[in-house]
Amino acid sequence: MRLLSWFLIALLAGCAQQPPEDDSLYLALGERPGIQRIVEGMLLNVARDQRIVEHFRKVDIVRLRDKLVEQLCVEAGGPCRYTGDSMAESHKGQNLTRSDFNALVEDLIDAMDAEGICVPNQNRLIARLAPMRGEVIEK
Ligand code: HEM
Repeated sequence: MRLLSWFLIALLAGCAQQPPEDDSLYLALGERPGIQRIVEGMLLNVARDQRIVEHFRKVDIVRLRDKLVEQLCVEAGGPCRYTGDSMAESHKGQNLTRSDFNALVEDLIDAMDAEGICVPNQNRLIARLAPMRGEVIEK
């Protein structure tokens, strides 16, 4: 029975998204100020992005900015706490598609380019966000 419990714990731990092992990505992104510049750059790109801008028309953009900064900080291994809603909750009913998801990732990549983040570090951040796709999109 005890063996079974350990097995289940190991299984659950394996499925859940683990925090990054170190803060090297957080440092590479320029810590919290750098992450804030990336998020703001991404949101400015979204504002010009006809593919997805409609989704953001009625949103409290300051709250969204703040929650995104917290979340990317956590995902990069920084000393932050995410205080926003779950991904499923915040995107429920928006009917988001794979194309919407890819468009947002492109806007994020352009923002990281503008901040001079090298491609390997861009890929590290995107790899942290990719597992959330299933909770964000509906089709
Ligand atoms: C990995 C991908 C994504 C991440 C990490 C993410 C993250 C977030 C976060 C942290 C929030 C704020 C939650 C809160 O207010 O507590 C949010 C809300 C929102 N997201 Fe996303 N998001 C993703 C994909 C997308 C996509 C693809 C779209 C649309 C193209 C989108 C549109 C929105 C909108 C419109 C809101 C505001 C909802 C509201 O305030 O009612 N998100 N997202």
